[in-house]
Amino acid sequence: MARSRSASPRWTLFLSLTILLCCFIVPGISVKHENFKKCAQSGFCKRNRAYADEVTARGSSWTAPYELDSASIQFQDGQLQGTIIKMTASNEKVRLPLTVSFLESGAARVVVDEEKRVKGEIELRHGSKARKERYNEAGKWVLVGGLELSKSASLNPETETGFTKVLYGPEKKFQAIIRHAPFEVQFQRDGETHVKLNDRGYLNVEHWRAKVNDESSEPKDDQSTWWEETFGGNTDSKPRGPESVGLDISFPGYGHVFGIPEHADSLSLKETRGGSGNHEEPYRMHNSDVFEYELNSPMTLYGSIPFMQAHRKDSTVGVFWLNAAETWVDIVKFKPSVNPLALGVSPKTTTQTHWFSESGQLDVFVFLGPTPEDLSRTYGELTGYTQLPQHFAIAYHQCRWNYVTDDDVKDVDRKFDKYQIPYDVIWLDIEYTDGKKYFTWDPLTFPDPKGMQEQLDDSERKLVIIIDPHIKNEANYPVVEELKSKDLAVKNKDGNIYEGWCWPGSSHWVDCFNPASISWWTGLFKYDKFKGTLPNMFIWNDMNEPSVFNGPETTMPKDNLHYGNWEHRDIHNVNGLTLVNATYNAMLERKKGEIRRPFILTRSFYAGAQRISAMWTGDNQANWDHLAASLPMVLNNGIAGFPFAGADVGGFFGNPSKELLTRWYQTGIFYPFFRAHAHIDTRRREPYLAGEPYMSIITQAIRLRYQLLPAWYTAFHQASVNGTPIVRPQYYVHPSDELGFAIDDQFYLGSTGLLAKPVVTEGATSVDIYIADDEKYYDYFDYTVYQGAGNRHTVPAPLEKVPLLMQGGHIIPRKDRPRRSSGLMKWDPYTLVVVLDKNGQAEGTLYVDDGETFDYQHGAYIHRRFSFSDSSLSSEDIGRKGPKTVDYVKTMADVRVEKVVVVDAPKEWQEKSSVTVIEDGAEAGATAPLEYHVQQGGKAPYAVVKNPNVGIGKVWRIEF
Ligand code: GLC
Repeated sequence: MARSRSASPRWTLFLSLTILLCCFIVPGISVKHENFKKCAQSGFCKRNRAYADEVTARGSSWTAPYELDSASIQFQDGQLQGTIIKMTASNEKVRLPLTVSFLESGAARVVVDEEKRVKGEIELRHGSKARKERYNEAGKWVLVGGLELSKSASLNPETETGFTKVLYGPEKKFQAIIRHAPFEVQFQRDGETHVKLNDRGYLNVEHWRAKVNDESSEPKDDQSTWWEETFGGNTDSKPRGPESVGLDISFPGYGHVFGIPEHADSLSLKETRGGSGNHEEPYRMHNSDVFEYELNSPMTLYGSIPFMQAHRKDSTVGVFWLNAAETWVDIVKFKPSVNPLALGVSPKTTTQTHWFSESGQLDVFVFLGPTPEDLSRTYGELTGYTQLPQHFAIAYHQCRWNYVTDDDVKDVDRKFDKYQIPYDVIWLDIEYTDGKKYFTWDPLTFPDPKGMQEQLDDSERKLVIIIDPHIKNEANYPVVEELKSKDLAVKNKDGNIYEGWCWPGSSHWVDCFNPASISWWTGLFKYDKFKGTLPNMFIWNDMNEPSVFNGPETTMPKDNLHYGNWEHRDIHNVNGLTLVNATYNAMLERKKGEIRRPFILTRSFYAGAQRISAMWTGDNQANWDHLAASLPMVLNNGIAGFPFAGADVGGFFGNPSKELLTRWYQTGIFYPFFRAHAHIDTRRREPYLAGEPYMSIITQAIRLRYQLLPAWYTAFHQASVNGTPIVRPQYYVHPSDELGFAIDDQFYLGSTGLLAKPVVTEGATSVDIYIADDEKYYDYFDYTVYQGAGNRHTVPAPLEKVPLLMQGGHIIPRKDRPRRSSGLMKWDPYTLVVVLDKNGQAEGTLYVDDGETFDYQHGAYIHRRFSFSDSSLSSEDIGRKGPKTVDYVKTMADVRVEKVVVVDAPKEWQEKSSVTVIEDGAEAGATAPLEYHVQQGGKAPYAVVKNPNVGIGKVWRIEF
């Protein structure tokens, strides 16, 4: 949003300025760098980089001051414990307890704490308390499983002095080699090292020290920001002094690293220590409301997931850095010089990373793969998988800031019907409230919210409304009064209620770290409390970084205090997640007995947010570069375990040209979260306003999304059980094909074999799609054949065309009847598209449930595998049964397959006019008509079986 952040005492003036600025937004103007820290302006970032530089400069003359005390080491039940001794410059020995856990999942976890802090007293400040120990509760918000210790992990009997070696993982193929002095850990798989911790000696645990009488220690350190730090006129008091943790993590032989969202950058992360094409700054993770964010940048954005995958041919490994404080990551790559004796074997690139966080424990999980799916699964076991969303949530969402009255909403709703454009959800931004007071309706503009929701419900549509975490500081507003009287708000450093500015002007922030806040928040959503809301209303949590217009870097002061006396510094990056957690709980408990899967969109996020929400990439701009940037951003979120992601279709700031809007819809239909949104000062741009031919083309694109909803829902289901991304980049699907590793503008939908490359450039009439394998690929619409591994193939893409291919070997489930909303498609019949591979075979899956309740957890679903081989298409059950299976399958008895299309159907079928259909093991089959279509001009022939009339939940066979 556009807004002034000058510290005017009068927020009315401030709001007028905001609105004034809003009106003069010029797309393309860029982020205000002066509002956000560069590494050199952040004390701990600067110190850690300087430390790394010094270690590197000193080379072999440097002795790392961290030593694992050999006598302290104990290994028991899959866990190694010991004490690392840090020798300070003043020869003080700081004791750092080390725990290395070897987990049943094959992951390993390395935690370094600080003894003096743990045993230290709580420090008093201005009569309030800030905890001195290192923050150790991030896991409470983030981890939900996967921590079972390995029963089989054991010390390697082949000992070596000064080393401890632990064998673990599947068939004990993994080994952690822990060197005591200096402390270092190498992680091996099959005898080869894949991940190294502290190999470069950048481990840095800034130990606790008293403010006085330690002036002489570590003389080389820049101490100027140890006890206080000022930026942009805000001073951060630092009662605990310097306390960062830093570590280098190297991936020998790995040329690509992915992950650590959220950044507007390429999928394959760039080097950050300068040089041509590289960044100068480390990738930063400090959840922030970055106004008019820039592209190709390592700057921080709204959310953070410190999970990184490193990839090389046929191997993926990774790390998860569990720390909720501000974090930066430097990346460098190097290629060893060519060894003349290596006879043409080119050396492999190695990626070296350096991570540092402002406070908290050093807590890092190491994953040894070897496949990207292994990483997704193991990481998901720890942080949880994507919640299976309600079915409507994966359809099309229509949003803008703002639909201004309840009549406006109803009118938009009617227009979609009039122009026969499907949509499922309409959204209300902040203006629906009475003066930005959440949990109220503006009495003049939204006098009848129930009537509005009822009209939507008539066509199974939903409403999403925004609820932000800032609570207006105004007299006679019961919500703020309760917040204060119950003492549930975030405090400032003096222990008084914190006040800052956001949309309502002066505000307070609910502290969702407090269990009492969660209960209170939950109560606010009950139907009798939040009047005018119906069960088809869902929630959008925005500004939860939190965004504070007059705060440092547009967020909260780091010395603010949260529940349990943790400083905001310690928890900043999980703050947004805690709000979503409270809202999720609230949505579950709106009414006893009415349990529906909540849907919540969040802007700020951290690892684990995938369990309870969808995300979007915030305030983008209506230009082609932002359209292009949305793809790597969405893909990267999937890699980092949070695949329910999208970008504002059309671009938030500015007015897109009709061509851009059209191309954005054609791209947006491939975002797992598909929502159009626009800033308050943009022109209206609902698809029916686009005029022809744009309106029809956009309608076709949205209908394509709806047609493929069965495939999308199946992909969401997969993500919900094994963590695989919903849209998958090239390296993920073809991990052996080095030419594809850096490609981030084309992707596959789940495991359907659908390969899309949306047009993201102006005036394009074709795109070049890269094909990694030697399967045949077919144009989705006309079955033109593309084949040839390791090549780019030109696919026509005039404005009306979405470049979309089908890889041979898949069966794609669809629903072909256009409807007003996905809810109205529930009982519609299916079409199965059988795309034959080189050997004339194909396979695919379909997952279906009620799309609404949690009954699927008790077996109320249909999960089928379709296979085609030897001229026979069959459907078999792959679901586990549960108490609700039988009843659910009964409700689906009338849902049939109405069409089967076989792409590249064998020539012999030309002679056939029918197929035999055998359902439920019946002896005699029925027949269904078969039509064979010969095509010219490089297009594959195809056959259509009309109305085979087999049940979607039944066992059946179609003999061709
Ligand atoms: C923030 C959100 C944007 C929303 C606006 C008003 O800028 O990112 O989507 O429209 O606030 O609530």
